[in-house]
Amino acid sequence: MRRERGRDRTVTDARQTIGRVAVIGTGVIGRSWVEVFARAGCETRIHDRDQAQIDRALAWLDEDLDLSVAGGWLGAGEADGIRSRVSTHSELEDALAGADYVQESGPERLDAKRELFRALDGSAPSAAILASSTSTFDMTVIADGLAGASRCIVAHPTNPPHVIPAVEVLPGASTDPAVVSRTMNFLRQAGQVPVLLRKYTFGFVLNRLQAALVREAIDLVESGVADVEAVDTIVREGLGLRWAIMGPFVTGHTNADGGLREYYGRYGSSYRALIQALDPAAPAFDGEMIDRLSTATEGLVGGATVADLLRWRDDMIRRIRALKSQHPGA
Ligand SMILES: NC(=O)c1ccc[n+]([C@@H]2O[C@H](COP(=O)([O-])OP(=O)(O)OC[C@H]3O[C@@H](n4cnc5c(N)ncnc54)[C@H](O)[C@@H]3O)[C@@H](O)[C@H]2O)c1
Repeated sequence: MRRERGRDRTVTDARQTIGRVAVIGTGVIGRSWVEVFARAGCETRIHDRDQAQIDRALAWLDEDLDLSVAGGWLGAGEADGIRSRVSTHSELEDALAGADYVQESGPERLDAKRELFRALDGSAPSAAILASSTSTFDMTVIADGLAGASRCIVAHPTNPPHVIPAVEVLPGASTDPAVVSRTMNFLRQAGQVPVLLRKYTFGFVLNRLQAALVREAIDLVESGVADVEAVDTIVREGLGLRWAIMGPFVTGHTNADGGLREYYGRYGSSYRALIQALDPAAPAFDGEMIDRLSTATEGLVGGATVADLLRWRDDMIRRIRALKSQHPGA
């Protein structure tokens, strides 16, 4: 991750595949994608229905680039190059002009996604790939009835994509296989780690895994087993340290000297009993529950604002990735 000043190999690589990108919707996810694509050397045209969101996204990008230069992650020239490749457009059609790839990052509502995709399909150049950041919807449904359904695909990032590389890629029923491979190649060349899913399931893989853990974390607190701080500490100082370098299967493989075969053989019945003991009821997420957990979490982070935490998180993730790239997997 730590780059040599003035040299950035991803720039030429990504440009060979996709020269011009449009990011539609510049909230939390869209603004972060802007940095990914502009950093990869693409001309990045951005549009949001709300001008204030475009202004906020640019202010965020400016600050993040300044911090990246100060932290040694980017050279000053690279940051200037990124800024110069970003342009804002109040009209959707202008943002789409000449685009090779479009990353839709509008609100997570099916009607909004379908409407936006109708507009994108109507105005984007016919060869452009139309990708959605959707966290939950099936591209088969979003693109249903569109003339250009074959160029539509889900590219669901992990928040925030400018520092976290995993992207879940999922074609719809009509998506052209060439669009799948071009999307995978482009995202890879832009520095992300695309992961191709085989079929649609609600929440894809990442959010299903996350929801399983979040459900149990809430249940442990609400049922009085442990407080918010204890649960967060066990993830942060326990499970999370392993998870930054290996997933649940390779972790299991290292939990017994004979690997996963021995581990599951030895502990399979305990896991089975534990999994059966998990209460499948979903937490209520009512006002009182949200208030209880939010108050405890605000106490846990002390005086830090969310913006403070985001800056700290991004810096720490960059450091962890730099360390991982110096010591690639076994
Ligand atoms: N926030 C996350 O953690 C996260 C993670 C991965 C994926 N996603 C997905 O990314 C997408 C965006 O999420 P977000 O958290 O950035 O939401 P957000 O609410 O922060 O941003 C959405 C943006 O879309 C704009 N918008 C609304 N209608 C529009 C239109 N017709 N044309 C152009 N812009 C329009 C809004 O003004 C807003 O700026 C969603 O599909 C979400 O599921 C979110």
